[in-house]
Amino acid sequence: MRLLFLGDVVGRAGRDAITERLPGLINEYRFDFVVINGENASHGKGLTEPHYNELRAAGADVVTLGDHAWDQRETQSFIAREPTLLRPINFAPGTPGRGANLIEGRNGHRVLVVQAQGRVFMNPVDDPFRAVEAAIAACPLGEQADAVIVDFHTEATSEIQAMGFFLDGRASLVVGTHTHIPTSDHRILRGGTALMADAGMCGDFDSIIGVDVDEPLSRFLTGIPNGRFTPAEGEATLCGVAIETDAKTGLTTKISPVRIGGTLSQALPVFD
Ligand SMILES: [Fe+2]
Ligand SMILES: [Fe+2]
Repeated sequence: MRLLFLGDVVGRAGRDAITERLPGLINEYRFDFVVINGENASHGKGLTEPHYNELRAAGADVVTLGDHAWDQRETQSFIAREPTLLRPINFAPGTPGRGANLIEGRNGHRVLVVQAQGRVFMNPVDDPFRAVEAAIAACPLGEQADAVIVDFHTEATSEIQAMGFFLDGRASLVVGTHTHIPTSDHRILRGGTALMADAGMCGDFDSIIGVDVDEPLSRFLTGIPNGRFTPAEGEATLCGVAIETDAKTGLTTKISPVRIGGTLSQALPVFD
């Protein structure tokens, strides 16, 4: 299988890049399954239902959220009827929506997608390690699941790497989201799990993590909020990671970083 994961979509620039480029990418590289983090897709804050539908229509099989899951009030209601929209699995018991699901892709493969939120430099949440382990135990790779993708949403790269080693041999891909900065540590661990500490964002990099420079810069300089954060609207770079998995085991045999368009250095998926 070929799977594509794209990091946090930020605002209109990110959504437009997804709409314009994703259908072509899916065709060109024959991706069987696509996961997109959408926690900042609606003006940088959460995900409205129309914007969720936009990401799905462009080719996302599953959309994940994160600490911005509830920035748009409507998400609490529409997430309940959307099996392909996930929020962190280790939010409080009784939280709307779900944190893991087994989804059938366009070519009939069954992919378990799990999202968890970390605890280092993040608001308190339940233990992400045991929560993800329980979800995978209920739907093991190579048995019920043809592939397992874990979106680990957190600030600290060490915590994501720990999740990668914790799940090595039990997941196809463990990838970080949330920092909006793509890392170049993508690799395949000894047990066959692909790991990348952060997928990066799908947004305009002529910005501070997707936000127009002036207000965050002035807050760093003065400590005084003087305005709102507004998403940067120049051409977005699509950032993420692509993997190819073994048909029998579901473990990863190839991994490529993905950076397309915008101002970052470019990296196209390479499978051959
Ligand atoms: Fe984000
Ligand atoms: Fe986040």
